[in-house]
Amino acid sequence: MPEGTEHRRVTLTVNSQTYEVDIEPRRTLADVLRDQCGLTGTHLGCEQGVCGACTVLIDGSPARSCLLFAAGFENREITTVEGREHDPVLAKVQQVIIEEDALQCGFCTPGFVVLLTGLIHMDWKGDESDLAAAMSSNICRCTGYQGLMRAARRLLEPTADSTSDQV
Ligand code: FES
Ligand code: FES
Repeated sequence: MPEGTEHRRVTLTVNSQTYEVDIEPRRTLADVLRDQCGLTGTHLGCEQGVCGACTVLIDGSPARSCLLFAAGFENREITTVEGREHDPVLAKVQQVIIEEDALQCGFCTPGFVVLLTGLIHMDWKGDESDLAAAMSSNICRCTGYQGLMRAARRLLEPTADSTSDQV
């Protein structure tokens, strides 16, 4: 590490495993997960909080890891797309995504898997248009969202509304 750069030893809990990492305070959680924890399933797209590819769960709620400083997340439970052993809900979401053909290149897929897992953990309730709004937080450039919405409907069971054919 370059001389004069401030580093701090931080203990992160990711998918029920402990990682001790030496990091600069300005390192993002996404970079630390990928580069220092070896968890490259968390993807980086825009790095500006727009695309959702970097979504992880913090204490069960979805968060954009490209916008968070890793040093602030000691003593929090972080879940990434690799956490299927740690979180059976995440494993189920992965299975439904596969069954509904809800991916093409797969770049956005970890973000959607984690987003849907978080919505289930948060006991999401809503109608079709609420679900479309929730899913619009993440961007997919390949699938046209049809498979993703089929998977989301199976997992979250939205109530019907008049906009059900719009996404
Ligand atoms: S990489 Fe974080 S929101 Fe796009
Ligand atoms: S499957 Fe390619 S960006 Fe979503």
